[in-house]
Amino acid sequence: MPHQGPVPPRVLPRNDPRQYDDLVDEWWRPDGAFAMLHWLATARAALVPPARRPGALLVDVGCGAGLLAPHLAGRGYRHVGVDLTRSALAQAATHGVTVVNGDAAALPLADGCADVVTAGELLEHVPDWRAAVAEACRVLAPGGTLVLDTLNATALSRLLAVRVAELFRGVPRGIHDPRLFVDSRALVAECARHGVRLRIRGVRPTVVGTGRWLLGRAYPALARRTGRTAPPRIVPTWSSAVLYQGRGVKDG
Ligand SMILES: C[S@@+](CC[C@H](N)C(=O)[O-])C[C@H]1O[C@@H](n2cnc3c(N)ncnc32)[C@H](O)[C@@H]1O
Repeated sequence: MPHQGPVPPRVLPRNDPRQYDDLVDEWWRPDGAFAMLHWLATARAALVPPARRPGALLVDVGCGAGLLAPHLAGRGYRHVGVDLTRSALAQAATHGVTVVNGDAAALPLADGCADVVTAGELLEHVPDWRAAVAEACRVLAPGGTLVLDTLNATALSRLLAVRVAELFRGVPRGIHDPRLFVDSRALVAECARHGVRLRIRGVRPTVVGTGRWLLGRAYPALARRTGRTAPPRIVPTWSSAVLYQGRGVKDG
């Protein structure tokens, strides 16, 4: 008699992009597996400068399901998103993103076409982050702005973002491969090689906000009663040893 129970989730290697297909229904759930990406998108959008011309182009490399889109609404950008994962792009398209299926290491876009390039939580997922940086800088127009956030290649980052984070219910196991985390100094040097002077700063979710959010997720009825449902904010912090943002303008 064949087994009739629920199908267990398939176990994929760390950082296998097929994990995003398995988690496709999680993207737009504010309290779902990608909740923190929502918080980070808010913080990233705050680093995007005002559009410098009508119809300015923002290229969102590794756009996923387009979580940046609501934060760009009314700001004058055409939002083009490039990603490897077709199931994520299908959702991004429903949020107004012009989607392109492609690899961050070989963007199918012309040199200097973008007024802004964003790469949110992407570089720590690509096998060759230097190639992705080279491509991001290539498609950026002179005077254009690069905005990114990623995880640092430190022992603390590996501990918190992988070992500790994966202990929490709802955090996808194996979404990160700590070997791919990006050394912040090497990233600044690489951007400089491509004409972008990147300034970085450490960021973290607010402690109280995160505590309330975790509590609210564990006890939804309590959260509704106390009205404490606001998501945590991502704020600057003194150390860039774990999570950091970068912003830089291309020479020219
Ligand atoms: C952690 S998610 C971040 C998504 C989005 N930037 C956000 O913050 O919501 C990483 C995304 O990078 C994409 N990705 C991974 N490797 C890629 C590559 N080599 N080229 C393009 N996209 C890639 C994945 O498909 C996934 O959508």
